[in-house]
Amino acid sequence: LDNGLALKPTMGWLHWERFMCNIDCDKDPDNCISERLYMQVADVMAKEGWKEAGYEYVCIDDCWPSHQRDAQGRLQADPQRFPGGIKRLADYVHSKGLKLGIYADVGKNTCAGYPGSLGYYETDAQTFADWDVDLLKFDGCYMDWTLLGEGYVNMSKALNKTGRSILYSCEWPLYEWPFQKPNYTAIREACNHWRNFADVYDSWSSIKSILDWTASHQDVIVPSAGPGGWNDPDMVFCLSHAQQESQMALWAIMAAPLLVSNDPRDICPHSKELQDPLGNQGYRTAKVDNFELWERPLAVPGWKICDPQCNVTQILPQYKEMGVQTPETQMVVSVNPSGTALLTITPLQKLYWDTSL
Ligand code: DGJ
Repeated sequence: LDNGLALKPTMGWLHWERFMCNIDCDKDPDNCISERLYMQVADVMAKEGWKEAGYEYVCIDDCWPSHQRDAQGRLQADPQRFPGGIKRLADYVHSKGLKLGIYADVGKNTCAGYPGSLGYYETDAQTFADWDVDLLKFDGCYMDWTLLGEGYVNMSKALNKTGRSILYSCEWPLYEWPFQKPNYTAIREACNHWRNFADVYDSWSSIKSILDWTASHQDVIVPSAGPGGWNDPDMVFCLSHAQQESQMALWAIMAAPLLVSNDPRDICPHSKELQDPLGNQGYRTAKVDNFELWERPLAVPGWKICDPQCNVTQILPQYKEMGVQTPETQMVVSVNPSGTALLTITPLQKLYWDTSL
């Protein structure tokens, strides 16, 4: 969709995989779908460096609205769970430097049975714009499949008509595949990304089935991806360490939106390990003419000590093993004008021989 958004795959957090339709705020106030959850997620994302790592959108999924529209026919948030309303939540999320995503459905109802947007596309688009929402995930339940394409296109037009920049995340092909091969040219014209296949759930077999589906349809779907429009293989979340690395690597290869669904307030330790846990900001250590040297400490014990030896790897501009170095060796690295060479230095531990044995 040529609306200037999603020029790179969208990054953020989306509630569904982890929190689903938990609306029991009496028994489970910390995990129910309520304004509190999104405010706390926004707090953590702003405080713990998600934002700096590029994760921008805090996204609401199904089960946020009241079961009734208001007297003017507008959607309204459940008053018990969202006492401040969505506009105030958007203001809060924006105050943290983040963006707010909301969810609706092209059909008569959402998948969980809340009011759908069928017959209300312009009203709902305007309501979301009035609330200063930044992204719409548009589901495809309770819709006659022959009207699916028309519905998704009409909502795209309605969003555009509001004049607000709202990223448009569709599920059009997922709901069309059972009946016919979707028209990806039309989908790309209307949407910023689109789900093709079943919902991801907490298991490695779910990830494998998404990869299998993607690989077996790659001739059809790969050509449609590019700046402004992406295939969306669904959320990323907590798995075993190796599986998580695989999911991140494969989602990166698939140029996929990275919408994390986890509990950022209580992130599983091995997920944090995918980032450097030290979280120290780097700094400049030398400047000679136009040449500058910067370093960033990582959580590697003795990271700074190349004594007696360290292993050096160049990450940018090309990956290159630079071999084992000592404080005495000299390395030659070429850097383009205004370019960068990024190196990692890993200390090699001294080997102590216990001579008493
Ligand atoms: C089906 C979608 O594919 C899911 O991602 C989620 O939005 C649920 N519906 C919500 O009911």
